[in-house]
Amino acid sequence: MADIPTTPRGNWDSKLGFILAAAGSAVGLGNIWRFPTEAASNGGAAFLLIYLACCFLIGFPVMIAEMSIGRSSKKNPVGAFRSLSTNKFFPLVGIWGVLCGVMILSFYTVIAGWTFSHVFVEIFVYAEMFEVASFLADFENGYVNAVFAILFMACTIGIIRGGVSNGIERATKLMMPMLLIILVIMTVYVLFQPGAGEGIEIYLYPDFSMIDMELILAAMGQAFFSLSLGMGAIITYGSYLGKKENIAEAAGFVTLADVGIAFLAGLLILPTIYMAQAEGVQIFDAEGNFLAGPALIFQLLPELFAQMGGITGLLFGVLFFSLLSIAALTSTISLLEVPVSYVIDEHKIKRKSAALYVGLGILVISLIISFNTALIDTIDFTFSVIGLPLGGLLICIFLGYVWKTENAIEEIKHGYENVKDTFFAKAWTVFVKFVCPLIILIILIQTIYNNYFSS
Ligand code: PFF
Repeated sequence: MADIPTTPRGNWDSKLGFILAAAGSAVGLGNIWRFPTEAASNGGAAFLLIYLACCFLIGFPVMIAEMSIGRSSKKNPVGAFRSLSTNKFFPLVGIWGVLCGVMILSFYTVIAGWTFSHVFVEIFVYAEMFEVASFLADFENGYVNAVFAILFMACTIGIIRGGVSNGIERATKLMMPMLLIILVIMTVYVLFQPGAGEGIEIYLYPDFSMIDMELILAAMGQAFFSLSLGMGAIITYGSYLGKKENIAEAAGFVTLADVGIAFLAGLLILPTIYMAQAEGVQIFDAEGNFLAGPALIFQLLPELFAQMGGITGLLFGVLFFSLLSIAALTSTISLLEVPVSYVIDEHKIKRKSAALYVGLGILVISLIISFNTALIDTIDFTFSVIGLPLGGLLICIFLGYVWKTENAIEEIKHGYENVKDTFFAKAWTVFVKFVCPLIILIILIQTIYNNYFSS
């Protein structure tokens, strides 16, 4: 009997392409929107410190784990767990990852749509067409939300249909440098403006009394979300990686790029917030709480751009929201690639159709969210705050106790020949088997307790 033709899997064209794609997945709304907001509402530098610790001590080892599972199996998250062991439970972890990807993408697309619509809002404000601007800026308007979510999903599907090297790699190679340039220009400008000093101080001088369990929970959730860990996105990207590449080094670059961009975004946003206050913009709500969530980026910053006025305000407004849209797009493509690679591998469907149908299916959920934006918090809490660390915990258990770290080290050896006897290998083994699962478990139990059982 002739073999059933299988769809060939893609490959990255170059190591840089892989690193940029994985960094593109990691760098997103999580860095430029969520991180500065979390930092601002959680004591600035205190949050930054704990966040850095979470990224390097938990995120980095888990990222190496995901990359080695992906490259060794050459499969999507479900197929990866299935092919590396006979254990019947772990493919379910892969399915959980795919589900997290689907649900996170469904609300992420709506928020990404807002960032895109604000590019136009800024233009209409400049043209003094205030009615059109406020029509487009109204998040309560489900139709506007839906139109921009559709546009954003169309771009995401288009890139994923192009494939691994022709779609994802090409797009991220173009977008990541653009993102970095815009971010650096804006940060340098803001740092030299009057009023920026207070923001920098709050961001860089830690007040250790601010560190409590709640802050640690927030920092760890943020680290998982920001590094795209716990749902198999990095397993999937790792599955397209060639054997000659050094996984530990690649994971190091991606972690550094993600943390570096989050740090830069903090340097941009925190001073901006305090500059805005110096200009008379309200940064606390009626109860004296810090403006957080969408209000911070989509309300406060446009007010600042408007006050800058003229062509400077327009330029900064358009640049800033383009920056957010680019960052979001390099992340939505990785979110869509997870379920698409699952459908391609496991159901032998061609990439172009898989991307289209899976993308449209997720868009249906995005449209429901467009008309019910209150759903975002619940979905975010379930699938990112709980879902990703839970996935990360199970990935560590799989690697440490089912597939075994020795096999992972054998995989890492390709591209890092003498890894076995290094301090890195020993430390990583201890982290994946003991430190990471224990810390994640404690923090997860606390999160669940705080949310469901404490009064
Ligand atoms: N890391 C992305 C961000 O910081 O916005 C979000 C994300 C992308 C989470 C991909 C999870 C994922 F698999």
